[in-house]
Amino acid sequence: MSTYRSQEWFGKRDKMGFIYRSWMKNQGFPEDMFDGRPVIGICNTWSELTPCNAHLRDLAESVKRGVYEAGGFPLEFPIMSLGETLLKPTAMLFRNLASMDAEESIRGNPIDGVVLLTGCDKTTPSTMMGAASVDLPTIVVPGGPMLNGKYKGQDIGSGTSVWKLTDDLKTGLITYQDYTYAESCMSRSPGHCMTMGTASTMACMVESLGMTLPGAAAIPAVDSRKKVLAQLSGRRIVEMVKEDLKISKILTRAAFENAIRVNAAVGGSSNFIIHLTAIAGRIGVELNLQDFDTLGSNMPLLVNLMPSGAYLMEDFYYAGGLPVVIKEIASQLHMDAVTVNGKTHAENVDGAVCYNSSVIYPYDDPLIKEAGIVVLKGNLAENGAVIKPSAASTSLMQHRGRAVVFENIEDYHARVDDPDLDIDETCVMVLKNVGPVGYPGMPEVGNMVLPKKLLDKGITDLVRISDGRMSGTAYGTVVLHVSPESAIGGNLALVQNGDLIELDVHAKRLHLNVSGEELDRRRAAWKQTDLAYQRGYVNLYIQHVQQADKGADFDFLVGKSGSRVTRDSH
Ligand code: FES
Repeated sequence: MSTYRSQEWFGKRDKMGFIYRSWMKNQGFPEDMFDGRPVIGICNTWSELTPCNAHLRDLAESVKRGVYEAGGFPLEFPIMSLGETLLKPTAMLFRNLASMDAEESIRGNPIDGVVLLTGCDKTTPSTMMGAASVDLPTIVVPGGPMLNGKYKGQDIGSGTSVWKLTDDLKTGLITYQDYTYAESCMSRSPGHCMTMGTASTMACMVESLGMTLPGAAAIPAVDSRKKVLAQLSGRRIVEMVKEDLKISKILTRAAFENAIRVNAAVGGSSNFIIHLTAIAGRIGVELNLQDFDTLGSNMPLLVNLMPSGAYLMEDFYYAGGLPVVIKEIASQLHMDAVTVNGKTHAENVDGAVCYNSSVIYPYDDPLIKEAGIVVLKGNLAENGAVIKPSAASTSLMQHRGRAVVFENIEDYHARVDDPDLDIDETCVMVLKNVGPVGYPGMPEVGNMVLPKKLLDKGITDLVRISDGRMSGTAYGTVVLHVSPESAIGGNLALVQNGDLIELDVHAKRLHLNVSGEELDRRRAAWKQTDLAYQRGYVNLYIQHVQQADKGADFDFLVGKSGSRVTRDSH
């Protein structure tokens, strides 16, 4: 008899064994499925309410085929799925909840290894966080991006083009009919956002961490090779169980350093920072906000994808995908890091070839020389804030301007288009109370749409500062993740209309030009807004969520408990 943990259920010869096997047999599984072979959980984030993941039931069948071929026993299970577009007030509020669902579903069931089927933004980090806290052999199958959007002869990108089309509608450049026509042109196949938004960033993150088979991230959802990848992943997870290749053997400090550098080279989302930090916290690898700057901020941008560039994920795949990027920046990576196929990155990308250097630039002649996410510090962000220079305006990288303050998102919506709003192109827009505790859930509202009267003047960018996040598909000179956030009394809470703010991306500085004595006076007068969540999950959230620089995980979820369960259920 094997010693796999699933045998603690199916291998018993008593009443408990009868119960564990008999009820499973109601699904028509033959006796030999319980004979000690590896049991593979397929953790599926499928949901019709998560359109980016709606094809994952289908993809799970390919995984199962691979598991059976390798002599394993696949069992698919659902967990809470987080769809970025529909879920209110923001999917990020529930990332930690979904991670708990994944963790307990994996640990509590007779599973020896797990395949994570992911897609939309939060479905990757939440399942990774949960899996890391259990520490079984784990492999990720990213669901893949949608095909490129096609609108009136042009390629349009998920999210990125929404901001542009919305500005065009606001200024009368397009009609409402054009606008709704663009909706169906943009999302024309299964899959997640096909820009280098957060979902694509997360797919690249797991591939660069070594958590997928090589080349997995860029394959479009509808490409037949995505099914091949799923089937091969099914075969491979069975081998991983036999080799006892646990997730903790893949997720080393070297793997995290690789992910940070690759993220800079692909122009990945600023959300990457929060999610990678949370995953590191679960597996027990030291990673702090400064690491993202030290390791990533001087990396070149190679991948020419929206929102930082011009192309989309389908083009990235045809150009050779992530293996080409890893090969290009090999001198900056730990190429000896082991990946889920048991091989190193060096072995995996040995044969990678770039087929389109307009999409993937060479390392020695990059699209942008220094492009990684920069960590800003100063009296306005004592624990840090972040900016993605590749998505920002060069002319605003050093800027000093007068603050125009919105106390919360409702205040912003109510006043942004007021013709009397005292704002011009030199001002700095400041949005408070959109952090982890303040919103709560840290929504993607940091890239505030500019006031109509500035858009009408042809102004396309302004420095914007908040304690919230920004969609990975968005762009602009947007300072995000200000920590500590305003709702818990960070200095952001003390900014007033007319204060001068200095942003210097090169010096990594964010400074509120107000004296210490004046800040002390304002702090003494500051009152915390009543957070008014007396019960339920949101109450738990605001009590336990950590700040952005710590990954916004719950304090009690940091670390791992392993896979051991000592008591039976009956
Ligand atoms: Fe799901 Fe963008 S909305 S990936």
